Amino acid sequence: MVMRYFPMAGVSLLAALALSACQSQQASPLAGVWLFGKEVQDFPGVRMIEIKAQGDGYTGTMTTDWYGPMPMKDLAVKDGVATFGIFNGNARVPVKTWTARLDGDKLHVTGEVWYGKLDNDAVRGSQADAEKRRFHLTALPPYAELKPDGLAQTPPMGWSSWNKFADHIDDKTVREIADAMVSSGLRDAGYRYINIDDGWQGQRGADGQIRPNSRFPDMKSLADYVHGKGLKLGIYSSPGPKTCAGYEGSYGHIQQDAATYAAWGIDYLKYDLCSGEAFYQSAEQIRASYQEMGQALRATGRAIVYSLCEYGRGDVGSWGRNVGGHLWRTTGDIEDKYQVMAKLGFDGNGSPQHAGPGGWNDPDMLEVGNGGMSVEEYRTHMTLWAMSAAPLLMGHDLRNMDRQTASLLENPEVIAIDQDALGIQGQAVRKEDGAEIWVKPLAGGAVALALFNRTDKPQSIEFSAKDAGLRQLATLRDLWAHQALAADTRHITLPAHGAALLKVSGNAL
Ligand code: GLA
Repeated sequence: MVMRYFPMAGVSLLAALALSACQSQQASPLAGVWLFGKEVQDFPGVRMIEIKAQGDGYTGTMTTDWYGPMPMKDLAVKDGVATFGIFNGNARVPVKTWTARLDGDKLHVTGEVWYGKLDNDAVRGSQADAEKRRFHLTALPPYAELKPDGLAQTPPMGWSSWNKFADHIDDKTVREIADAMVSSGLRDAGYRYINIDDGWQGQRGADGQIRPNSRFPDMKSLADYVHGKGLKLGIYSSPGPKTCAGYEGSYGHIQQDAATYAAWGIDYLKYDLCSGEAFYQSAEQIRASYQEMGQALRATGRAIVYSLCEYGRGDVGSWGRNVGGHLWRTTGDIEDKYQVMAKLGFDGNGSPQHAGPGGWNDPDMLEVGNGGMSVEEYRTHMTLWAMSAAPLLMGHDLRNMDRQTASLLENPEVIAIDQDALGIQGQAVRKEDGAEIWVKPLAGGAVALALFNRTDKPQSIEFSAKDAGLRQLATLRDLWAHQALAADTRHITLPAHGAALLKVSGNAL
């Protein structure tokens, strides 16, 4: 059970006493409780500001829908103007300076956090108003390590709604995607999970239970449908109060949400830090918040693959398994652009020593078939993900798939490299002049050898048996062309941004 505490409640009494002691002297008229109306921007949803005299100075809190109580950093009151900093826990955005000044009997507040701006008036409220609007913090569980549960012995394969549909996703589309997964042959090629990403959530009922929004009338019946096709259903949430797209997160409802997902028949959860980054800023806190959901999922008794999405913070690969995770994002978001995909796939796919049966580095979902890259660039995308033993979660519209897309995604020889039983994450053994040679040892002693041309001109790439860790090369097979190569082949010409994937064998060095 989560222990709740109300950190502001005790403090407010002391602060009120301090305030009344100071008031007789010269407490600023800015001190007190200030309430914002519904007209403020949804992000970050500023609801209240509290400024309290303390000693010679002031402390303050800004309460928001997304980030809960945000301390006003370095709050100073001078010449009737309060200045302070607000930080949402994301180091990519510096602390911005805010101001608050009286305008008649209102408080006019301006400032920025992340991409949200506030330039609004607040009206004075009472302590009782403040109590009602205060955000109730929950404590994190004590450190624990979860034992392996046997799931995800090879990298998870499936589809996710986000890359193509963002939050414009609904029950009908998910059912049609499940149909297309079967009719296209992708299910039988190994893709099993149909994952609804952000955008399915509605509001909580009076009992606190999360309800899907009107686009998903009946989650249980959707799960039954997907299961009836021999597929599995995934869902998405956040440890924060809001998901990245502004839907209801799981904050304060972790166990309840895990139980709800299990009751619906959910088989996979992507748990995305989003607004939780303000609450959980240190590596220990992030780990504990992911452990909390990991324990809640285990407590349901249902086999649920657990996908950690916190963009690689706090060396997630070193603890992902211990919190019950089966895959963990190592990067920011992919985009359907070669340069973004290449940055993640070549340079952001996590430490190979953390990957293996039961737990995988996740450089984000596939963009193959979305139209933003050339066929050769998508081939590079698939080759990199297969060599990296990365989860293969497609992100296009399966209902309208051309032949080329299908042949990139369904190639059984390439999928076999990704899904190899040893579960070793491949890595570069040589990088020269925009050419890279990667190696991934396979079960049975063969080796996957990938050649990449990162330049925007065709180039011939030379390789040797030594690159593959072998004394000599006895057999070479081109897995994209489905053909054997002559045993003395030692260079391949690749188009701009192109890749080749070979399976080679020979005597070990
Ligand atoms: C974050 C994640 C994405 C996606 C969106 C949904 O940006 O990294 O993969 O889930 O949130 O809002």
